[in-house]
Amino acid sequence: EMPNMALDGLFVALLLSFGTTVALDPIPRITWEPRDVHLVRFQEPGVSNYSALLLGSGDDTLYIGAREAIFAVNSLNIADKQHEVRWRVTEDKKAKCAEKGKSKETECLNYIRVLQFLNSTVLYVCGTNAFQPTCDHLLLKTFELVGKNEDGKGRCPFDPAQSYTSVMVDGELYSGTSYNFLGSEPIISRNSPQSPLRTEYAIPWLNEPSFVYADVIRKNPNGTDGEDDKIYFFFTEVSVEYEFFGKSMIPRIARVCKGDQGGLRTLQKKWTSFLKARLACSLLENNSLFNVINDVFILRAPDLKEPVFYAVFTPQWNNVGLSAVCAYNMSLVEDVFSKGKYMQSATVEQSHTKWVRYSGEVPKPRPGACINNEAKAANYSSSLNLPDKTLQFVKDHPLMDDSVVPISNRPRLIKRDVNYTQIVVDRIQALDKTVYDVMFISTDRGALHKAVSADSGMHIIEETQLFPGSEPVQTLLLSAEPGKKYIYAGSNAGVVQAPVAFCEKHRTCVDCVLARDPYCAWSPRKASCVDIFKERGSISSLIQKMSGDASSCTDDQGRENTLRHFFKHGGTAELKCSQKSNLARVVWKFQNSVLEVQSPKYLLIFPHCLYYLLSGYNYLPYLFQLYLFLLWLCQIS
Ligand SMILES: *[C@@H]1O[C@H](CO)[C@@H](O)[C@H](O)[C@H]1NC(C)=O
Ligand SMILES: *[C@@H]1O[C@H](CO)[C@@H](O)[C@H](O)[C@H]1NC(C)=O
Ligand SMILES: *[C@@H]1O[C@H](CO)[C@@H](O)[C@H](O)[C@H]1NC(C)=O
Ligand SMILES: *[C@@H]1O[C@H](CO)[C@@H](O)[C@H](O)[C@H]1NC(C)=O
Ligand SMILES: *[C@@H]1O[C@H](CO)[C@@H](O)[C@H](O)[C@H]1NC(C)=O
Ligand SMILES: *[C@@H]1O[C@H](CO)[C@@H](O)[C@H](O)[C@H]1NC(C)=O
Ligand SMILES: *[C@@H]1O[C@H](CO)[C@@H](O)[C@H](O)[C@H]1NC(C)=O
Repeated sequence: EMPNMALDGLFVALLLSFGTTVALDPIPRITWEPRDVHLVRFQEPGVSNYSALLLGSGDDTLYIGAREAIFAVNSLNIADKQHEVRWRVTEDKKAKCAEKGKSKETECLNYIRVLQFLNSTVLYVCGTNAFQPTCDHLLLKTFELVGKNEDGKGRCPFDPAQSYTSVMVDGELYSGTSYNFLGSEPIISRNSPQSPLRTEYAIPWLNEPSFVYADVIRKNPNGTDGEDDKIYFFFTEVSVEYEFFGKSMIPRIARVCKGDQGGLRTLQKKWTSFLKARLACSLLENNSLFNVINDVFILRAPDLKEPVFYAVFTPQWNNVGLSAVCAYNMSLVEDVFSKGKYMQSATVEQSHTKWVRYSGEVPKPRPGACINNEAKAANYSSSLNLPDKTLQFVKDHPLMDDSVVPISNRPRLIKRDVNYTQIVVDRIQALDKTVYDVMFISTDRGALHKAVSADSGMHIIEETQLFPGSEPVQTLLLSAEPGKKYIYAGSNAGVVQAPVAFCEKHRTCVDCVLARDPYCAWSPRKASCVDIFKERGSISSLIQKMSGDASSCTDDQGRENTLRHFFKHGGTAELKCSQKSNLARVVWKFQNSVLEVQSPKYLLIFPHCLYYLLSGYNYLPYLFQLYLFLLWLCQIS
């Protein structure tokens, strides 16, 4: 029975102190659950698999390709649907597909896989169409499909479970996918009426690839060497050069030249410029190798001399959940292809075919090179003029011996207990003029991590739960327009729009500064944490310290925040630390000494004494006089 004596009120002070954590496996500082933040969602009843996202250019439209449907929504508020068109499989196609042993409910449907601008008025769309891939034109004015019924073989996979990637370059679609019903014939192709090209169907060219990304890198407009635009493909494939136990996977970057016309006899209607190399991303000290590439983002910015690309990796056997981000420099990629050594297959004993460095003579012009001024000067005005020797060499040696290594030779970020799926990067300038590449990385459990490289190492500013925890994020887009910056994430369940920062959620100056979020700063005038890119007027009074040093927050009530808790007689009280930071430490103090208890959660209040209820079994009585003072230190960082 509770003794009945008055306990007028227990004054609990919440003291904030400071500190920074340096971590190799950084913990997101803040975790936002869907109820904490405002996210906009798009989900259409009866429609699933929102796998293709495309941002309109300058008209605030987001195009969404889903299963049997294409939508146009307002990119500033994706819940605002503007248009939709259904693209269903006909009954006889569905029946034929089912006859071949595929599921009517899941496989014999039309999954939109290609969604690209053909020009400013037409979208080029392709779908799996019950294992009969088909492409069509979508007129943006009326949002109607023309009904072209183009054969989508080589542009779009037959099987919705197969990997695919594509990019539209000057009205011609470049794609990486599979070419047959079984999905056993991989292909990288260009769909062009003038000069369609494709890869050889041969293991050294593509060996069970899983495509993740493709994009064009334009030539330097001021270049004097007459180089060409190049299209890069990223994929994971089965290694031909290493053999461990069973199949070992290897991440690749491959490239072709836009001006390629194929060969005249050798490599007729095939790429003469197809070369590929290994993408290295490993932490040598720990011998952990990230050999499955999941996504790529190519970062271009006016202040960057050359594009830098970011890629997310996981290990092949990933039961622990380990992920890495590596960043690469485009000039290094170019060097590997234009100056590197080639590999060649060598039959060694026991008929194991291994690939080794080729050190013989290399024919001229250099195999796989684009037609540049030097080639033209030697009268090779097009790939059709290339000598057979060069073509035969590239046909047999598409693989480079040198690997593409990441900037600083190590991953930017390594994270445990997570499988990263997609990445986008925003390059911004903080108030102190330092430029930050802010990485937004999604997981296979519906979350988004926002990470930035700080002096003390990688700092994960926050983790936002976009979808329920079972939903992998499959597509991620960044709209980088000033004032309209948003992240768009697609999954099987729907599409989510999230702002790039949740500055206003940081309630105090200390919290705002400790977030170390380059988008956010404390405005003493407004007494709120603001987005520096949305702030009009003077920004000179704003407080932002990417080091996390909050000592400028002097006048702010948030520096030494005091909370008062009043307790009822004889009751149980839960003291909640209102601190959102996962990096915070909670300690109890009694007469200036720290109580040796592990994060007490509950307090039993009796006259003269307090009981801490610990995890289940053990409770320590501490005798208190009524006037004694209990401090709860919530140390945040
Ligand atoms: C866009 O492409 C379509 C199909 O090729 C063509 O009919 C149309 O004229 C083009 N529009 C513009 C503005 O180029
Ligand atoms: C489509 O979405 C459903 C869940 O809504 C999922 O079970 C299925 O695997 C998805 N199919 C493809 C091909 O992504
Ligand atoms: C090309 O030259 C122009 C004029 O000299 C310059 O403004 C521009 O930045 C250069 N572009 C590149 C990519 O070097
Ligand atoms: C590398 O190994 C060392 C020693 O085992 C360990 O302390 C460190 O955390 C490891 N690094 C990573 C990224 O796993
Ligand atoms: C790319 O790498 C080269 C060689 O390491 C270096 O000279 C160049 O500055 C790098 N560029 C960037 C943007 O890091
Ligand atoms: C290129 O062709 C032109 C005209 O056919 C010829 O005059 C010239 O000598 C050739 N140059 C080379 C390097 O073969
Ligand atoms: C990561 O993926 C692997 C393989 O699919 C799975 O076994 C593991 O549970 C995943 N881990 C996390 C943390 O999602």
